[in-house]
Amino acid sequence: MIAHGIRTVGVLGAGQMGLGIALVSALRAKVPVLLHDKSSDQVANGLAFADKLLAKDVSKGRISSEEAKEARDRISPVSDLSGFRDTDMVIEAVSENLALKQAIFSSFAKELSPSAILASNTSSISITKIAAATIPKGVSAASEEGKATAARVVGLHFFNPVPVMKLVELIPAIQTSQDTLDRARAFAVAAGKEVTVSKDVPGFVANALLMPFINEAITALENGIATRDDIDKTLKLGMNHPMGPLQLADFIGLDTCLAIQQTLYNGTSDSKYRPSILLERMVDAGWYGKKSGKGFYEY
Ligand code: CAA
Repeated sequence: MIAHGIRTVGVLGAGQMGLGIALVSALRAKVPVLLHDKSSDQVANGLAFADKLLAKDVSKGRISSEEAKEARDRISPVSDLSGFRDTDMVIEAVSENLALKQAIFSSFAKELSPSAILASNTSSISITKIAAATIPKGVSAASEEGKATAARVVGLHFFNPVPVMKLVELIPAIQTSQDTLDRARAFAVAAGKEVTVSKDVPGFVANALLMPFINEAITALENGIATRDDIDKTLKLGMNHPMGPLQLADFIGLDTCLAIQQTLYNGTSDSKYRPSILLERMVDAGWYGKKSGKGFYEY
């Protein structure tokens, strides 16, 4: 098997995804993790949650208290992006916003070593567009320098809750090198995940299939076809889904679902991806699902 060669990983974003990625990197891949978020409260809350998850794993006899302590000790917060300078791979897990991700990857390319892998946990945004943003102004994308810079970028899409979900989608940009892909895959496997590969299309495989399903459930509610509880119960008991689609939308975050659906719709112009008005209105109202205390359910 190909060695990932990652001695230290940087994780940008300590929200539900970033924290989970930091935890599996420290616990399963056993590499030191540098964690950064612009909000230090988010980092503190994330680390407190990691402590709880590790304590639960110890209490269930899955890991020893030494392993839990070692994993926790591998995670260190850093106060800015320059803290990632000596990492061999960085994984970005910030909100779904192309301009934000492009600015971040441009900084990564300046700060990190030319051999470092620059991975995005985006759930739908084009990895090719993110990779293009790493090329410095004045450098041609077709030059050797331009190609080598963008070749380090890859999509590494984890699923929520990261410690529980077994999958990572691996998404090559059209510029990604085989070496980047092989090492990113080896890292995901070391972190305990199974890997599937998707082309760089809007939503990749997972969200191109999941989001129309969630949107249909919201439209069914909007059209009064069934109650919230009956829509979710139908899918849970009729199809053995662990959560109904409305509960799952709350769990993912309605703002995230809307952002993904907008990327799908804008990227394909296909009406099957048009977000429902109800989803838009709920996000307008600040009802983001579980994380904000209200979505289709109250928390
Ligand atoms: N973080 C870490 N672990 C968590 C967790 C969280 N946020 N939430 C639950 N868990 C753990 C629990 O601690 C529990 O662990 P143990 O087995 O060690 O006790 C385990 O998950 C099961 O939890 P529960 O028994 O409390 O509840 P459950 O049986 O209903 O399972 C669930 C919870 C795993 C979340 C399950 O409901 C499920 O699989 N739901 C679907 C999740 C899903 O589809 N995720 C993908 C979303 S799409 C995505 O992430 C990608 C994207 O781009 C949008």
